Amino acid sequence: PLVSPKEMFEGAYAGGYAIGAFNVNNMEIIQGIMEAGSEENAPLILQVSAGAKKYAGLGYIMKLMEAALLDTDLPVVLHLDHGANFEICKEVIDGGFTSVMIDGSHLPFEENIAETKKVVEYAHERGVWVEAELGRLAGVEEDVVSEKTIYTDPDEAVEFVERTGCDSLAIAIGTSHGAYKFTGEAKLDFDRLDKIASLLPNYPIVLHGASSVVPEFVAMANEFGGDIAGAKGVPEDLLRKAASKAVCKINIDTDIRLAMTGVIRKFMAENPTVFDPRGYLGASREAVKEMVRHKIINVLGCSNKA
Ligand code: G3H
Ligand code: 13P
Ligand code: ZN
Ligand code: NA
Repeated sequence: PLVSPKEMFEGAYAGGYAIGAFNVNNMEIIQGIMEAGSEENAPLILQVSAGAKKYAGLGYIMKLMEAALLDTDLPVVLHLDHGANFEICKEVIDGGFTSVMIDGSHLPFEENIAETKKVVEYAHERGVWVEAELGRLAGVEEDVVSEKTIYTDPDEAVEFVERTGCDSLAIAIGTSHGAYKFTGEAKLDFDRLDKIASLLPNYPIVLHGASSVVPEFVAMANEFGGDIAGAKGVPEDLLRKAASKAVCKINIDTDIRLAMTGVIRKFMAENPTVFDPRGYLGASREAVKEMVRHKIINVLGCSNKA
């Protein structure tokens, strides 16, 4: 069934693991993730960005989710990723999402608080969870480019959570969106995470930009005509460390994109006579499933936590 993330995060916090939040925008991605979650008996968060909502349409998203949940008891959260304002949050809350992110991280502190509070008020009256963000990830986020990470200030985080009433907080500790996260050594500011966690006891923290940029899929894409040079993600041991701490939700989109692209490029190259889309889409669905299973078992630690 569709559920709130509340119990998932309580389990994750206490158990020192994290829930995977996977971006979805079509049937094969949803099916691949659902199959992985079912096989591993793992709780799942499926998240939809504004771009995904525009691509598939909210009606298709809701019906695909309904279909996904027909033959399973698996707890699944349907979450809005990077909601830019109150209006989009309201739309998906009214449409049946169980969790939303209001991303005011690009706004001045007081404006971020005001917009987040407004969403919290509307969402909480309807039993919907609210994730907010403080600090800024390097790279592109909602069309705003930040050259460098603006690390989340621990004292501001406390004030922000107290004044907005948001249920979970995305913080900036060195990750970024996309396939090019680090030019030099990959490192995250765990001292900052620990400081924030000590000031906000038992409070679930969210890590965006947390794909590993799986080297195998980058290499596969490049071997079969792709040109994805210099890609680098968050190493798995750093993600495991984050999951063992206050981080309860780990966002993964880029690894899904890379898995599908790598496998489709390979399939196309190796099967030049095939023109049935079920061939390459089926292969990419299988790749998404195995990649997500690997995350659940080896990175998130949420196998058998459903
Ligand atoms: O954080 C961004 C997610 O990867 C979603 O990306 O806005 O291109 O759908 P998108
Ligand atoms: P990645 O680009 O690292 O997959 O991050 C996804 C994300 O944070 C979605 O909100
Ligand atoms: Zn994100
Ligand atoms: Na955790």
